[in-house]
Amino acid sequence: MRINRGFLNLQDSYLFSRIAEKVTEYQKQNPEKEIIRLGIGDVTLPLAPAVIEAMQQAVSEMGSAHTFRGYGEEQGYAFLRRAVCGYYASKGVELEADEVFISDGAKSDLGNIPDVFAVENTVLVPDPVYPVYLDTNVMAGRSIIFSKGSIENGFLPLPEPGLHADLVYLCSPNNPTGAVYTKEQLKAWVDWALDHDAVIIFDSAYEAFVQDQELPTSIYQIEGAKSCAIEFCSLSKTAGFTGIRCGYTVVPQELVRDHVSVNRLWLRRQTTKFNGVSYIVQRGAEAVFTEDGLRQTQESINYYRENARLIADTLAELGLWFTGGTNAPYIWLQCPNHMSSWEFFDLLLERYGIVGTPGSGFGENGEGFFRLTAFGRREEILKAMDRLRKMPL
Ligand code: MLT
Repeated sequence: MRINRGFLNLQDSYLFSRIAEKVTEYQKQNPEKEIIRLGIGDVTLPLAPAVIEAMQQAVSEMGSAHTFRGYGEEQGYAFLRRAVCGYYASKGVELEADEVFISDGAKSDLGNIPDVFAVENTVLVPDPVYPVYLDTNVMAGRSIIFSKGSIENGFLPLPEPGLHADLVYLCSPNNPTGAVYTKEQLKAWVDWALDHDAVIIFDSAYEAFVQDQELPTSIYQIEGAKSCAIEFCSLSKTAGFTGIRCGYTVVPQELVRDHVSVNRLWLRRQTTKFNGVSYIVQRGAEAVFTEDGLRQTQESINYYRENARLIADTLAELGLWFTGGTNAPYIWLQCPNHMSSWEFFDLLLERYGIVGTPGSGFGENGEGFFRLTAFGRREEILKAMDRLRKMPL
């Protein structure tokens, strides 16, 4: 009997679990210290009234024999898939409902999508980036190469001459750097993928934070992308669903590799291994895409944007280099005084009672950088910024 040895090649624990453990330990030793958490990107505002109303209505339906529902369709109820298509249409992207798959959030589908691709494929992962892309492929034992983000390329790496990879992960607006690809830059990736028969795994979980009209919010706004890209999105950050759990994945019918429809494989995978998201949650998700839902969720996004601006202004006052925060809820800064990411983490926690995320947790190229999230409560953000302003540099 053999275990999957890919797991032994992973770091001991998942980044956010390691941070949580460190903070819990610190809090145990220092129970009087007030800690402000700007680490994991978890939302703090309540759900929109339109969502609550829809979910309450759905709960009532489940309590009556006439409207009760058991198993739903594995790929999601048609009403929600149609609502997602409507949202895409508002961005100028035409989709069919059978190209949309409802999930319990982008993380699961991002982790599961490699199931439909051979283990022999080479995977290109940006560095730094959300750790799920790397870890799931390490678990599977795939060969992994990295595209390197840096201050010089604005943490937006592009395909380099001679690059060979089969699966390419992109995240824009980016987690952790907050950087956003322009249409021209995304086109460079799409053209490269079409030329190389590669597939782009595009994570657009933070698309709702883009305010610059010129920036893309879906890879399908780029010509040719439907033949080479799968897009993953989530209502976690858009509508405060981190605890409710609902997202969607788009697998276009045009996407064919090895003479096989990838949509058909994903449907087969989902119908076998997934039983769908609860009816109540899907009704809540549907409400996000109504006029009221979109307006109400936009109010929360604006609140987080203002938090991001407050953080960015403080860092500018301190003279620290940073990116992100304008079209994304993350601010990515360079640690002061050549500190390593974990040294800065310890300093912020122990001296200022602030928890952030060490950049090195997102990859080697994140060393010397640090991520702050704008998802906190306003009063906490203000308090944290007051504390930061006292930092001697
Ligand atoms: C993050 O902090 O990077 C995210 O909240 C993690 C996630 O979305 O799973």
